[in-house]
Amino acid sequence: MNTLAEKYPQDIKRILAKYPPEQKRSAIMPLLFLAQRETGQVSPEAVQEIASMLAVSTTEITSVMGFYTLFHDHPGGRYRLQVCHDLSCALNGAETFLEQLCRHLGIEEGQTTSDGLFTIEAVPCLAACDKGPVFQLQGDGEIVYYEKQTLESAKALLETLRQRAAGEVTP
Ligand code: FES
Repeated sequence: MNTLAEKYPQDIKRILAKYPPEQKRSAIMPLLFLAQRETGQVSPEAVQEIASMLAVSTTEITSVMGFYTLFHDHPGGRYRLQVCHDLSCALNGAETFLEQLCRHLGIEEGQTTSDGLFTIEAVPCLAACDKGPVFQLQGDGEIVYYEKQTLESAKALLETLRQRAAGEVTP
């Protein structure tokens, strides 16, 4: 497997040029985005490479990945539905919503549907605490927030995404 430096020399050069040498660690997030771009996940090899590139520990890289729900260390579907299950949303029915969504798709939280289209994940606060149940949808290079969700509204979205994946509707 090619390293990031072999695959994306120009992108890496451009990213690193934005930061003075003493603040190289600020490039962690853009480099993680770069590493994740193709496969939707950051491999352990990429974590190691970014750490060496920036002269930081791999723990520092993985702690950034762990903090942000936008980075993934494991494979997922084309679309990741990340449902907030923090307190305010839980009080607004997020746990029931999450269970219903998983049951509808026939998977458990953290799993991906057999067609590779959808992954459902429970995540911490998405900063829309009075609008639960809420989830962010990651996929096709974008992130979209959906607030005050019901199973019916989510099912309608899933159907649109299925049609998009089948080429029946444009994004
Ligand atoms: S608690 Fe769900 S968005 Fe904040």
